[in-house]
Amino acid sequence: MNSFIYDIPVKVYFGENQLQHLGKELSKFGKRVLLTYGGGSIKKTGLYDTVMSEIEKNGLEVFELSGIEPNPRIESVRKGVRICKDEKIDVLLAVGGGSTLDATKFMAAGACVEHDPWEFLSENWAPIEKALPVITVLTLAATGSEMDAGGVISNPETQDKIGRLAPPMLPKVSFLDPTLTYTVSPYQTACGAADMMSHIMEVYFNMEQDLYMLDCFMEGMMRTIIKYAPIAMREPKNYEARANLMWTSSWAINGFVNGGKRQAWSCHPMEHELSAIYDITHGLGLAILTPRWMEYCLDESTVSKYVQFGVNVFGIDERQEPMVIARQSIEKLSEFLFGTLGLKRTFTEVGIRAEDFPVMARKACGNGVLPGFKPLAQEDIERIFEMCQ
Ligand code: NZQ
Ligand code: ZN
Repeated sequence: MNSFIYDIPVKVYFGENQLQHLGKELSKFGKRVLLTYGGGSIKKTGLYDTVMSEIEKNGLEVFELSGIEPNPRIESVRKGVRICKDEKIDVLLAVGGGSTLDATKFMAAGACVEHDPWEFLSENWAPIEKALPVITVLTLAATGSEMDAGGVISNPETQDKIGRLAPPMLPKVSFLDPTLTYTVSPYQTACGAADMMSHIMEVYFNMEQDLYMLDCFMEGMMRTIIKYAPIAMREPKNYEARANLMWTSSWAINGFVNGGKRQAWSCHPMEHELSAIYDITHGLGLAILTPRWMEYCLDESTVSKYVQFGVNVFGIDERQEPMVIARQSIEKLSEFLFGTLGLKRTFTEVGIRAEDFPVMARKACGNGVLPGFKPLAQEDIERIFEMCQ
């Protein structure tokens, strides 16, 4: 077992009515606030008015950037950086889902440098040493961006979608009010559930010597998603379901479950290439890929992890042969993703074409090998894509 550092310094206000503390928290960082949001859901739900009233009550000056797109684009980041610099912004307030939060983190970092923010993500990989403070109000449980230091940005010109983690971009404070997710559609709820499942599975499927406690924690979170996602889809205002999903989204990816594991992720780099070209919803892409990736990686050397997963997460009878349990566990996961959550099952159904497989596979492994659960070279990734057709 490898040694590790536990350091997740995000202050979280969890629960209903916690937004009453928003003004006080913003004020700690200055007077000039950049409010960022997406395509308008926060106006429809009334959240915009609540946030504005909290800001104004505390005598803060607010500037706005709206229209941050799902799979957020570098152009939105550039707009935000310009406002931060021109208006001498003290603190950024991101209100929305992962896309708004991610774009805002890069605005905060971009405001502290002279160069174009794409330099952080292009092959130049410019250092991220500083960022303006970011506060988030989460409206969709999925990415965990509210409690991690990462973000993923698309560049339509180069057909790239690239993620990066940098500690200065970690939100200072995040407001997690499950009632703000009552208006999330069943489809986005399903995609969010698939995304969280994947965040956990990317860490859980690992043959390194494990911390048993962390495996149990991950199994508990996966069971939580399996239990509550369908309830939230059926009963959007079920507080218990929304609250369980929201807190799971944060803990699935805030770094806690990693322990000292060093293994890279597999399905996320593959999915980012799908979204880069086809602009599909992240969780949907992951749902299609994950069971096929599991199938591809299953062999005598990995079967024990599938058995643990199948027995502890799906309650499969452990008295059967390991390979039988492993196959059942893949079937159970597929049933959950495509049956219970109702997500589309194949690339064909979402319009992803085979002619793009080679380029997407090459970019997913960075022209080398993706060093995940099973190392995957370009030809392995192309095979997985073929299995998704
Ligand atoms: O834009 P608005 O109008 O707000 O509508 C959004 C958007 O259309 C809507 N929505 C959000 N909250 C709502 C709501 N609609 C009704 N009621 C609400 N309360 O939902 C749609 C999707 O929003 P988006 O922010 O794109 O979804 P999500 O949170 O799933 O974020 C996806 C992005 O995060 C990245 C993904 O790659 C993708 O770009 N990720 C970020 C990660 C991170 N920071 O660590 C990790 C993830 O693996 C992921 O890659
Ligand atoms: Zn994800």
